[in-house]
Amino acid sequence: MEKIIVAIDGHSSCGKSTMAKALARAVGYIYVDTGAMYRCVTLYALRHRLMENGRIYEFALLQHIRLGYIKVTFQLDPATHQPLARLNGEVVESEIRGMEVSNNVSPIAALPFVRTFLVAQQQAMGRDKGIVMDGRDIATVVFPQAELKVFVTATPEVRAQRRYLELQAKGDTAANYDDVLRNVQERDYIDTHRSVAPLRPADDSLILDNSNLTPEQQNAWLLTQFHQRVNQSIINPNLHC
Ligand code: DC
Repeated sequence: MEKIIVAIDGHSSCGKSTMAKALARAVGYIYVDTGAMYRCVTLYALRHRLMENGRIYEFALLQHIRLGYIKVTFQLDPATHQPLARLNGEVVESEIRGMEVSNNVSPIAALPFVRTFLVAQQQAMGRDKGIVMDGRDIATVVFPQAELKVFVTATPEVRAQRRYLELQAKGDTAANYDDVLRNVQERDYIDTHRSVAPLRPADDSLILDNSNLTPEQQNAWLLTQFHQRVNQSIINPNLHC
């Protein structure tokens, strides 16, 4: 069957990873969470004191990237079949989802040389298509030629509540709802106002506001869009959305 690229962008904590993962599993595609890649670089910068009290030692971080000291990969968890982010071979899933990395990731993701480094890896992962990738600039920068582009959003309050419940489920009792809401709003601001690859839908992205949708409803919607695009690609192989 014809393989396509599915590009899913959207605000933080809007459930795009959940729907992207579900689609990839349902159709047998590779799933890539590009936010995890920016989070891994942030964790590296924090651990190596290339970022302290919000200040980034940009030249030093650039050297670490150039020297190949930062390797971000994914490994499928054999038990859950979920992709696990690895930083230099170490599984860092829980570290990259905590508040420290969440509070520091946006300025790292705004650095052009960090984006160039990670975008090149993301494009290489999609060379053979058959991939569902989510992030902020997938439809606009990484794969402007993607056959299916979706931009997901929900109100900041709904997103903060979802993130808060996720953190609680993981046993992160330090987080409170107001902090999480502030973090969501700050990240929205930085993501949409940065000069490099700001968060915005591509002209031909489908917009999905999932504030009032259940995960099952949004998964079903995405699967329908996917099948429509695959069928269109078979009828007209040169058609991009
Ligand atoms: O999706 P997330 O919350 O895990 O993303 C973490 C951060 O990385 C967030 O501040 C946005 C940024 N990001 C980005 O700039 N470009 C991407 N393709 C993915 C994430």
